[in-house]
Amino acid sequence: MPELRSRQKTQNQNDDPALDAHALLAWYDRHARNLPWRVAPHERAKGVQPDPYRVWLSEIMLQQTTVAAVRDYYLKFTTRWPDVAALAAAPLDDVLAAWAGLGYYARARNLHACAQKVAERDGRFPTSADELQALPGIGPYTAAAIAAICYDEPIAVVDGNVERVMARFLALDKPVREVKDDIRSAVQAVVPGRSGDFAQAMMDLGASLCAPRAASCMLCPLQPDCRAAATGQPTDYPVKAVKADRPVRYGHAFVARRADGAVWLTKRPEKGLLAKMAGVPGSDWQDDKTAPAHPISADWKYRGTVVHVFTHFRLELDVWVADTDVQQPFEAGWWSAPKQWPGEALPSLFKKVLATTQK
Ligand code: ADE
Ligand code: SF4
Repeated sequence: MPELRSRQKTQNQNDDPALDAHALLAWYDRHARNLPWRVAPHERAKGVQPDPYRVWLSEIMLQQTTVAAVRDYYLKFTTRWPDVAALAAAPLDDVLAAWAGLGYYARARNLHACAQKVAERDGRFPTSADELQALPGIGPYTAAAIAAICYDEPIAVVDGNVERVMARFLALDKPVREVKDDIRSAVQAVVPGRSGDFAQAMMDLGASLCAPRAASCMLCPLQPDCRAAATGQPTDYPVKAVKADRPVRYGHAFVARRADGAVWLTKRPEKGLLAKMAGVPGSDWQDDKTAPAHPISADWKYRGTVVHVFTHFRLELDVWVADTDVQQPFEAGWWSAPKQWPGEALPSLFKKVLATTQK
């Protein structure tokens, strides 16, 4: 019976459901988050265009970070540097200091380099994802996000949230890492004319109804076609990859402290992790524990071990403090009083290190 056969085919496992972009946009029109860099959908419909500088800045900040963590930094940056020319003209050290605490400092160095490139070419960002991707710090995701959000380029914008939504929607049985291309083409196949709103709708859905630990399928515009919702166990997706444990590295941090409470800070090397940021002197970070080689002779006291998780390893840093009246205890650096610390380009790691000395 040919009829029966054709019905079976539409229910075949390989015949993936198509995501209903229009249902998603209707949801977004009612529930879009109010974000400082965002043009709300009803404004966008009237032709208001997002400022590419602000969209770019927010997208760089949001990489590896949450909206909640980014909000204040975003407002600080746009108040201080309201356009790309202002940011390009700022000294790199000021930008790094303003970024301190957000992490992944290569992003801040690239941000500054990118602002300078854009300022050199007339102060306008390119309008296509291809051209955007040629700029420092702008990868395929960020290029697509800017091109879609600012210029409605019909391009798939796939971040971690969108990957989770799609892994659920299609009930993918492999870890996301192995099916990134499939996810991208499934999204690309349904990108509507309002591609910028669609991109942001997918992200908002992933940040709200289709969150990592809970899925509110009853409220979700994608629910009628969603495979994971149909299983009744939507959070079983995305399936997890077996992940290797992060290796551990060990090191020592040396805090030289003056009688007035100031500590000796140094600028980190030009290259490598936390490059050009501020820090306290220390040993190399190694795979094995080593005895501390205290840099100056003083009464070094152990203050505790700071644990910090980087992308590729976990760092355990023993913190040593010595009171000293030596004018310049280490090679190059400066004395910094506690009230100056908030203005220093100190990454969270060194904020933790200094916190142990305040107890
Ligand atoms: N996460 C990253 N970019 C975003 C955006 N434009 N809207 C919402 N969440 C985001
Ligand atoms: Fe996520 Fe549920 Fe919506 Fe599917 S129906 S996309 S699992 S919230």
